[in-house]
Amino acid sequence: MQAIANGIAERISSISVSSTMRVAAEAERLRGEGVDVADFSAGEPDFPTPANIKQAAVRALEQNFTKYTNTAGTAELKQAVCERHAQDYGTSYKPSECIITVGGKHAIFNLTQALVNPGDEVVIPSPYWVTYKDVVNYAGGKCVFVDADEAKGFTFTAASIEAVLTPRTKMVLINSPSNPSGAVLDRGEFEKVFKLTSDRGVYLMTDECYCRFLYDSEPFSIASLPGAKETVLVAGSLSKTYAMTGWRIGFGLAPAPVIVAMTKLQSHSTSNPTSIAQKAAVEALRGPQDSVSVMLAEYRRRRDFVVERLRAIPGVTCAEPRGAFYAYPNVGIAIGRNGIHNTLEFSARLLAEEHVAVVPGEAFGTDRHVRISYATSLRELERGLERIHQFIVRNS
Ligand SMILES: Cc1ncc(COP(=O)(O)O)c(C=O)c1O
Repeated sequence: MQAIANGIAERISSISVSSTMRVAAEAERLRGEGVDVADFSAGEPDFPTPANIKQAAVRALEQNFTKYTNTAGTAELKQAVCERHAQDYGTSYKPSECIITVGGKHAIFNLTQALVNPGDEVVIPSPYWVTYKDVVNYAGGKCVFVDADEAKGFTFTAASIEAVLTPRTKMVLINSPSNPSGAVLDRGEFEKVFKLTSDRGVYLMTDECYCRFLYDSEPFSIASLPGAKETVLVAGSLSKTYAMTGWRIGFGLAPAPVIVAMTKLQSHSTSNPTSIAQKAAVEALRGPQDSVSVMLAEYRRRRDFVVERLRAIPGVTCAEPRGAFYAYPNVGIAIGRNGIHNTLEFSARLLAEEHVAVVPGEAFGTDRHVRISYATSLRELERGLERIHQFIVRNS
């Protein structure tokens, strides 16, 4: 009998373990051993979910709102998503163009699986959020990366996107503000990318996960442009905006036939997102929005501190993040010395020797950077950055 290796399906081998989760797990293991770890690996707000949102979930429980809902989410929540998107960005989506998913990641996964055929090309600016690559690979698609310009704060131009478009391009995937760099795509360039894609009938997926966390520009959605609804696919998430990472609520806004295809897929995998979380999400979207600006003000303070502190380390450069809550410093000064050959080794050594957890840039497609999440207290940032300083000085 022929050996069947370990029986794992081939399509699983096309995806890799999320490096962000790997670092977080190692940091967790060390903490379990009593080590005092400064953890900058987590991509989630350190704020609690606002009280009004939690209370809505308690009410849902008390009212026994604990059964299946429609696969694509409750009518009430879809309506609330469309209304909030209209209010924030001036779009005009209908509930038939909306699906509620189990977090924003699920929206990206389902959108990609619903649209990408084997061999289709998906254009992704680099550095990119880890998941995009694996989700496209899982669909049998081919990632085409476009390098963002570090000297210009990791931004890119529409011309650089245009240069890689081919008849096989199915989708361009843009994440602004970006995880990991915090870069925000200039509105004019974004509009040019939209024109390029819509003229060719190519989909433009916009991952709006951090759209409300902008430091020096106004929230904007490319989906608000005239005619955008035909080719623009919005992947949204409540996770970061409302400090709701554990509740697992995201959404997709897309042409109705795409929503139907996503719903079909969802109906055979997760079914509906949790009923209680959906009630909480309605409150998040329709209730007071001040918690968002409170968090943004705090992130700004931390951003300013982190960037200044990183730039004070000899040889380290850091582009200024214009949104989200990540800094992406260039630590190349310490690569190629003292047995540190790449940022994977840099991060492993930093964790082992200084007990600071950061995510290696290899996970995001670049080889001289690490990602530092500043969704953590200033005190934690102060002591962690001091340790990073010492580590780099020692190894450069
Ligand atoms: C760029 C980006 N998009 C989407 C998500 C998905 O968030 P969630 O699935 O928690 O809603 C994340 C989470 O880290 C992210 O960083």
